[in-house]
Amino acid sequence: MRWSILTPDLCAHWDGRALSFTAGVPRSAVPAEGEMENLWRTYYANIFNPARVKVHAMRAEMPKKYWRNLPEATLIPELLREAPRRVETMMKKSAAKNAKGDEWRPAPVPATSSLATLREAAQSCTACPLYKNATQTVFGEGPKKATLMLLGEQPGDQEDLSGKPFIGPAGQLLDRALEEAGIDRNAVYVTNTVKHFKWEPRGKRRIHQKPSSRDIAACRPWMEAELRVVRPAVLVCLGSTAAQALFGSSFRVTRERGRVLESELAPRVVTTVHPSSLLRQPDEESRRREYALFVDDLRAALRASTEK
Ligand code: URA
Repeated sequence: MRWSILTPDLCAHWDGRALSFTAGVPRSAVPAEGEMENLWRTYYANIFNPARVKVHAMRAEMPKKYWRNLPEATLIPELLREAPRRVETMMKKSAAKNAKGDEWRPAPVPATSSLATLREAAQSCTACPLYKNATQTVFGEGPKKATLMLLGEQPGDQEDLSGKPFIGPAGQLLDRALEEAGIDRNAVYVTNTVKHFKWEPRGKRRIHQKPSSRDIAACRPWMEAELRVVRPAVLVCLGSTAAQALFGSSFRVTRERGRVLESELAPRVVTTVHPSSLLRQPDEESRRREYALFVDDLRAALRASTEK
């Protein structure tokens, strides 16, 4: 930056390469203070990065009593007030596009206690790019008064076509296990962590793809709204996608399954495997063993839903 220091005795100038000195000048020769300061203030307001503001560090470097000597100091309170909004806008802009040009935006969740209104609003959700290749949003289903809520990963092929959660092969296995655990599926609220089917074509088939953490985060407001409205006594996470959406990516279902856990989203949470993992067991014996463990976990959830 080029600069000059003007004094009545001597002036010093830096042109970016060399320092030079000229004779002193009277105050009247100095460009109007306001002009220079306004230029500096405009520059400062533009380079001010709200995400990097450290008020304590600023005060430590330059005690507040000297702030009045800084032309930009008059801007700081206003810039700080604006900072949260500027940070949010910056984050939204950078989060809005990924390398593929896919866009993420806030889910349009209405403030309502009606499941029907939520379901209707979710139909037009474009919060993540999955809506583009899915037939429809598969919202949760079940009574508002349900004491158990089951949370899966995302709808599969059949769910995507029918608009209903857990009706395909994994859903049929789930139905059987629920019955064996003494749970009436019609009394349970069944939903998914992500409400659009994520898939890729393989020949004529649509192959399930795991949702990304961004897909999960974009869909989360819908799950939160379902939990707010239904307020189940126990939330059952089916599989690691659901469990990790609640407890973070280091959560291991294999370690915690069947235990009654606490979460900010539900007073009691029981995690277990996803029913589709039972379908993938290599032999009859492991299928039978895993199925029995799954039913045990569902029983634990039922017990926790009736305990005081
Ligand atoms: N798998 C899920 O996680 N949810 C469904 O609805 C179907 C299969």
